[in-house]
Amino acid sequence: MAVDLVLKDGIVIVNDSEKVQSVAIDSGKIEGFYKHGEEPEGKRTIDCRGLYILPGLIDMHVHLRDLNQSEKEDYETGTMAAAAGGITTVVDMPNSSPPVLTREVLDQKIASASAKCYVNVGFYAGIGKRFDTSMVPDILGLKVYPHSPLTEGVNYDIKRIKKCVQLANKHDLPLLFHPDSATMDEKPETREEFFLIHSCESEVNSLQAFLDAKVEYEARLHVCHVSCAATARLILEHRAEHTLTAEVTPHHMLLSGENFPHTDGVAKMLPPLRSPYDTQMLAQALCKKCAIDCVGSDHAPHISSEKTTSFLEAASGIPGLETTLPLVLTEVFEGRISWIDFLRCCCSGPAMILGIPSKGILAEGYDADIVVVRKQEWHISGADFYSKAKLTPFEGRRVLAKPVTTIVGGEVVYHEGRFMVGPGIVGRVPIRKV
Ligand code: NCD
Ligand code: ZN
Ligand code: ZN
Ligand code: ZN
Repeated sequence: MAVDLVLKDGIVIVNDSEKVQSVAIDSGKIEGFYKHGEEPEGKRTIDCRGLYILPGLIDMHVHLRDLNQSEKEDYETGTMAAAAGGITTVVDMPNSSPPVLTREVLDQKIASASAKCYVNVGFYAGIGKRFDTSMVPDILGLKVYPHSPLTEGVNYDIKRIKKCVQLANKHDLPLLFHPDSATMDEKPETREEFFLIHSCESEVNSLQAFLDAKVEYEARLHVCHVSCAATARLILEHRAEHTLTAEVTPHHMLLSGENFPHTDGVAKMLPPLRSPYDTQMLAQALCKKCAIDCVGSDHAPHISSEKTTSFLEAASGIPGLETTLPLVLTEVFEGRISWIDFLRCCCSGPAMILGIPSKGILAEGYDADIVVVRKQEWHISGADFYSKAKLTPFEGRRVLAKPVTTIVGGEVVYHEGRFMVGPGIVGRVPIRKV
């Protein structure tokens, strides 16, 4: 019997080294690995000679906007960007308009994403004044923004933080948080004040508050976009089995604020870009037994005019779905990150944190979410993004990896710069934990 698809003679990573093999896919799953000449017949075959066959990336920190902010991004453009960027699963943040605090809004998002998706989409929910427990079966985690609460009149004091940790524990969901102890009434009047308000001290203090609450009500805590060396150090000191996990973005790892003296907001995001020392320490933290478990893009699209205005007025956030794989694999190809750490932080780590164990690993029986990558020099150009957000601080940057083919659930979604299916055909929505 022929299998659905054979990826023939590509390079797969086995125990941190490269090995030429074919990968057979059938019924949406990885059927097996074969030596040259021993492959089963495929209804379709893709020649992968010289190309890397990797698990599709899982980006657990993405803002796909849609609903009332579709001018910034919608599920169609956002998941096209993901597919073109070699990302096969994204998890959508709840700070949308309207925010995800009720089953009703979650249902609107699920309906919209189901109709428009090109990859798998999972969701997080926020915590309103009262938590809407009916969302639990369809979410992968709870997300809170202490510096910018999703509900008016809510303050992230110790009591509130404890309540959130307690809820996460009760529903067996990870509690993701944006570590920042700034408050809503701290409005910066200068660029310098912005950096002071959102300082490393503020990041560390916020993490400490959540760690303190965790002592009382044990829950899985996930620290979003760690940006400071001091934060990474504190995480390392509090490591316990799988209950404290942390994420880094490519931009906090590769760019320092000193290289962006511009007066516009193209490199404005929260947390802000830090010192060269912080970037260096974050890159070091991305290794086994270190502080970081996962790379998330924090894809946070805005319209151009919101980014080209003055730094103070500009919106925070940059697109990341189409730059993460090229940037991180360049680190691998240049020897600064090992294959093992790449696979752990971009694929299996997020799957573990999210509780979606059939994903994130290229092995027999796992979901056939796969990216085929060519080692090739090119330069990042925001104009070529499928995302509606085309301004990136990585503009012009030389990278060494390009996604060639993206496969979701065994179906070829994207191949050589073209989409092979329409919206809403492939991809599971919502991704649920098991
Ligand atoms: C994010 C956004 O725009 O939604 N912005 C950002 O600068 N990262 C919010 C967030 O992730 O904190
Ligand atoms: Zn062969
Ligand atoms: Zn954030
Ligand atoms: Zn974010």
